[in-house]
Amino acid sequence: MSFLMDFTKLPQSNLLYGGNAGLKRGVIWNGSHWLIKFPQETSTFDKVDISFTTSPLSEYVGSHIFEILGYNVHKASLGIFNNEKINRKQLVVACQDFTNNGRLKLIDYEAIKNNYSDGLQIKLSELKMSLPEYKSKGISSHTVPIEEIILQFKENSIFINNPESQKLFWEVLIIDCLINNNDRNKNNWGFLYDPSLNTYSPAPIYDNGASFVSKHSDEKLLKLLSDQSALENSALNGMCYYTVNNELLNFRNFFRKLKENHLDEQLKAALQSVVSKITTKWADIKSFINDLPCEENGIRIISDIQKQFFIKTMEIRFEKLIKTL
Ligand SMILES: Nc1ncnc2c1ncn2[C@@H]1O[C@H](COP(=O)(O)OP(=O)(O)OP(=O)(O)O)[C@@H](O)[C@H]1O
Ligand SMILES: [Mg+2]
Repeated sequence: MSFLMDFTKLPQSNLLYGGNAGLKRGVIWNGSHWLIKFPQETSTFDKVDISFTTSPLSEYVGSHIFEILGYNVHKASLGIFNNEKINRKQLVVACQDFTNNGRLKLIDYEAIKNNYSDGLQIKLSELKMSLPEYKSKGISSHTVPIEEIILQFKENSIFINNPESQKLFWEVLIIDCLINNNDRNKNNWGFLYDPSLNTYSPAPIYDNGASFVSKHSDEKLLKLLSDQSALENSALNGMCYYTVNNELLNFRNFFRKLKENHLDEQLKAALQSVVSKITTKWADIKSFINDLPCEENGIRIISDIQKQFFIKTMEIRFEKLIKTL
């Protein structure tokens, strides 16, 4: 059986999906809804020497690492899609739509955070007054203050009634650090609302397309792999999406500031749990990556250099960052 399924002719579901990291198509596969995520063209990106991102591979590997570690994550399958107009086959990733053919509704953090209560209103305005001005350093305006999330956990009934979602948040944050996912933005996590029961539960983990590196050529990766200090530098300097004191930081400094500001209360328990899961499953994670086919029918999937880079940088982040927290 082939590893890559050809998604080109799958019937369309006519469902549309948002996001800014590339085109998507809703399809029906084996009786359920899936979304196909296409790689993004890079001509407008700075200092990128490949013409399409390798984000489908990142989505696939990132999602499977969550799965190996035992988390509820959307199903992801790699495949090919042929642009028939120009006859160009590309590597894409299909993700199973977890809304159960529309029965459940995904309510992401962007909507959850607006759930009014008297206490939330008061505490949010106090928080706003207490934080310094946002230092964007030209990076992104879609970041979320970690202080806001911690406040939401205490004041928002959706989080209060779902304590497991808080635990999950911190664990996902640590694993995002492991896989270098720098894009857990407001739309990339949330809850599933079940209208028939009128209940909320944490949504499966989704959008892991910014994991590892998705805009680096093999030449660039090889250069990093041949210089240990450059490799460590690259592995340890990935940006975190949340701010502390309105400052956008790399994961290392983010965790340091969390501690300094006594915001790490729930992080400690999550760390214990995640470190033990990663230690137990480390060999499985490595074999999962090493066993991926490098190509099929002329379609590149992953190179040996990428495999090495993914594994080595995860090892560095685990040993030198996560385990030292
Ligand atoms: N497995 C899924 N099931 C249901 N809905 C999903 C699933 N994956 C993503 N979505 C929805 O589709 C939207 C776009 O998908 P996704 O976040 O993967 O795209 P993206 O372009 O990578 O986003 P970003 O701009 O965050 O990089 C999500 O914000 C979410 O609302
Ligand atoms: Mg997204």
